[in-house]
Amino acid sequence: MFPISVFISGNGSNLQAIIEKCHNPGYVKIINVVSDNNKAYGITRVKQADTSIPPFVMEQGRMSRQEYCRKLMKAMQVTEPKLIVLAGFMKVLTPEFTNAFHRKIINIHPALLPKHKGGGPSFNSHRNVLQWGEKEHGITIHWVNEELDGGPIILQRRFPVMSDDTEETLEKKVHNLEHIWYPWVINRIAEGYIT
Ligand code: GRF
Repeated sequence: MFPISVFISGNGSNLQAIIEKCHNPGYVKIINVVSDNNKAYGITRVKQADTSIPPFVMEQGRMSRQEYCRKLMKAMQVTEPKLIVLAGFMKVLTPEFTNAFHRKIINIHPALLPKHKGGGPSFNSHRNVLQWGEKEHGITIHWVNEELDGGPIILQRRFPVMSDDTEETLEKKVHNLEHIWYPWVINRIAEGYIT
């Protein structure tokens, strides 16, 4: 059994794929789903999919980012996941957190890093790709270190941008790839093939 924690902030479609392709088959066990937003639809998905996965909502409230991340780090040091999976988690983790879980945190980014780094509510990689006239788009799965979207790349998958693509079609294509490859990478890490 390979225990993981999944961190979300919103929709949770990647979480859903991880439940179906990693947790339900059995070898990987989601020991908790952390959300920094009590309204995240991903929390509803957890309750609908498998009531034995505990949702763990921890909002930042009046805490500083440092205080918030320290509290989260301490919670993770108690539950001891072997891997922390960021799946649409909107907070930038502090170096204190990323150093405490060196090579134990992965993230999925909806673009071909190092291009289109970024985060925050207004970040939209699909819009950027169209505005920049990019010929291709894709996904990046990477280890997380103290540099935002800068950790070592584990896997990228790409596809051509077509003349009739829109933000919506690009988002759908990106999500389709994410839902295949993020669970695949997690299973390979659990098996020890990716270290
Ligand atoms: C995904 O596109 C992922 O690449 C990015 O945030 C999005 C989360 O989507 N980090 P969802 O919440 O899993 O549907």
